[in-house]
Amino acid sequence: PLLIIDFGSQVTQLIARRLRELNVYCEIHPFQNVTPAFLADFAPRAVILSGGPASVIDAGSPRPPAEVFELGVPVLGICYGQQVMMQMLGGRVERGDGTAEFGRAYVTPEDGARPDLLTGWFLEGREQVWMSHGDHVAEIAPGFRVLGTSPGAPFAITGDPERNFYAVQFHPEVHHTPNGRTLYENFVKLAGFAGDWTMAAYREEAIRLIREQVGDAQVICGLSGGVDSSVAAVLIHEAIGDQLTCVFVDHGLLRHNEASEVVAMFRDHYNIPLIHADEADLFIGELEGVSDPEVKRKTIGRLFIDVFQRYADQIEGAGFLAQGTLYPDVIESVSFSGGPSVTIKSHHNVGGLPEKMGLKLVEPLRELFKDEVRALGHELGLPASFIGRHPFPGPGLAIRCPGEITRDKLDILRKADAVYLDQIRKHGLYDEIWQAFVALLPVRTVGVMGDGRTYEYACALRAVTSVDGMTADYYPFSHDFLGETATRIINEVRGINRVTYDITSKPPGTIEWE
Ligand code: XMP
Repeated sequence: PLLIIDFGSQVTQLIARRLRELNVYCEIHPFQNVTPAFLADFAPRAVILSGGPASVIDAGSPRPPAEVFELGVPVLGICYGQQVMMQMLGGRVERGDGTAEFGRAYVTPEDGARPDLLTGWFLEGREQVWMSHGDHVAEIAPGFRVLGTSPGAPFAITGDPERNFYAVQFHPEVHHTPNGRTLYENFVKLAGFAGDWTMAAYREEAIRLIREQVGDAQVICGLSGGVDSSVAAVLIHEAIGDQLTCVFVDHGLLRHNEASEVVAMFRDHYNIPLIHADEADLFIGELEGVSDPEVKRKTIGRLFIDVFQRYADQIEGAGFLAQGTLYPDVIESVSFSGGPSVTIKSHHNVGGLPEKMGLKLVEPLRELFKDEVRALGHELGLPASFIGRHPFPGPGLAIRCPGEITRDKLDILRKADAVYLDQIRKHGLYDEIWQAFVALLPVRTVGVMGDGRTYEYACALRAVTSVDGMTADYYPFSHDFLGETATRIINEVRGINRVTYDITSKPPGTIEWE
């Protein structure tokens, strides 16, 4: 495998992701764990030294064992990794004297023969890269030469092609280094990787690690019916069988048929022990008279934790709580920017619960991005229609029903939502849309149907495109589609006599209505 030695950069996981995209197996290990004995045992075919926040000039700053450079395998140093490499191999690093360089920069090549690492680079003269460093290399190590420079980094790319040692000042793994993938591709070729590693291999490895972590303890998994927790549950079940019990908290705020589908799939199809906590009465009862969005969210969040805990307490010998945490959730929870950010909406999760219940966490998807989780789900045989499902918020339909919630309103909303999604599927638009749903408005309007006057609810259709849910744009349906959908909803759903289409982007709107 390829070894990534992590010095604490926020983007180290992106290196792993780029390598997975190239079908190369890699493991990230924190520098503290990489001892000479570890190296001998791991026998990497190539090593990447990540970036990190430290300064190599400071005493005791992290470094890899010197043996890394004696393995006879290609080594790539990135940012802090570059500096560590230069210093350990006989170069010199100087402290940034206020000349820190952050963000976009352009690298141009040096004259002379270009090593294979740079195949496909500089085809148009210069390459855009993303810099983020304070210190800089002042003198490169013996054997190295300069291969590329930027205005702020005279040693932007350096290398010793004889030994296949390369060091770059910028981050080739981030999106803002558009041609970075080529650099990784060239590097893994130098190391002789065949690029034949797959999600199937990831699954095997994940299963091994889950077994190792859990031993013979019982594991509880909070199943929401969403893609992440479902993939985690199926994977863990494959690893430890009936040591896993899923708890599915059904708050009565789910979509049409959703609860029965989740139960059927997990209990009947996969034979995973599942507790269906049907607590609709409790949730809807407590939400009676509540119309403030934050109070709604907090109420649901609090009840969710209470209910989850009550059911989980019944599982004897539980030692672990499984969660479908993804890598983006991990990054978001580590704030480097300082001050607390403003709460736009309180998202509910089971954070804090593991300690309270004395459980350890199993998070087998912690290193993956959403599309990789989908690929893993596919590998595990989850149905494509399930894997491709739009995201659905924890508080469910409660936040799609502005104002006070009643069972009647929820029923109307569920029916309209089912018609709308049916329309979207029939027109082949489902996969183009990030999320689509109906919001039932707390307004009744006058209409005429047949010969009679009606006085019923108005609803709003919402459909957005997005890559990560952070920003979004409304989906440009054709007028025909909108007209046909409005007619169907009004004809098929009693209780709605007016349909509107929400064309707000995010920002300034949010995707959900509350
Ligand atoms: P907003 O409405 O903030 O939503 O633009 C962004 C994305 O997050 C989802 N969402 C939630 N997901 N718990 C969740 O698990 C929540 O409380 C929650 N609130 C919003 C929303 O559906 C969209 O995909």
